[in-house]
Amino acid sequence: MKNHKAVIFDLDGVIVDTAKFHFKAWKKLANDLGFDFTEEQNEQLKGVSRVESLKKILKWGNMELTEDEFKRQMALKNENYLSYVDQMEDDEILPGVSKVLDYLNENNIPYALGSASKNARAILHKINIYENFDAIVDGTDVSKAKPDPEVFFIAAKRLNVKPEECIVFEDSVAGIQAANNGKMLSIGIGDKTTLKEADYVFANFTEIDIEFIENLLRKEKK
Ligand code: BG6
Ligand code: MG
Repeated sequence: MKNHKAVIFDLDGVIVDTAKFHFKAWKKLANDLGFDFTEEQNEQLKGVSRVESLKKILKWGNMELTEDEFKRQMALKNENYLSYVDQMEDDEILPGVSKVLDYLNENNIPYALGSASKNARAILHKINIYENFDAIVDGTDVSKAKPDPEVFFIAAKRLNVKPEECIVFEDSVAGIQAANNGKMLSIGIGDKTTLKEADYVFANFTEIDIEFIENLLRKEKK
């Protein structure tokens, strides 16, 4: 029987609530271009790379941009997004996450970050947990976006474990699919209906007992 031996965390929406900053920055971009952008649309961008997000937004707004203008808008969005990130304090780590990280640290369970964001490293530094991770894989390391499991496969490799030995925490549908595609155990953080493809779903980390994680580190994938 294979044990789960390691954990991979998504960043945005799992460790920190940065989805609200992405929303504000994309909304400003859309509004500046002359159309609206809703929270429902933002939901569909979770786990989606910056470039793919802008393509989707332009489609929703029925707008085309030249290549240069596209690049300029992406840069503006990121600048705006980072201005919100800059104001983050290290207590902005989502409730319940530290308890889980402490448990993993105390029990020498390796864990990695597996995020689509190119800003992931800066954010981990900002909230003072960068050094805790045994491996960090972000948007600068991958060529295939979630739901492709590439980001998690690289993380597993860097942790020196097999994909099926990993537990993945994710808040996006694409991320859950990526974990499932990689034969990893998927745990959704968010809405049960939205994340119905996950092996388990919790509204947030405060709902997760350490005992539950302890058991998973012994159990095989269903
Ligand atoms: C994901 C977010 O983690 O990273 C997406 O869920 C975001 O909303 C993507 O677009 C890319 O992030 P960044 O920071 O490189 O623009
Ligand atoms: Mg996420």
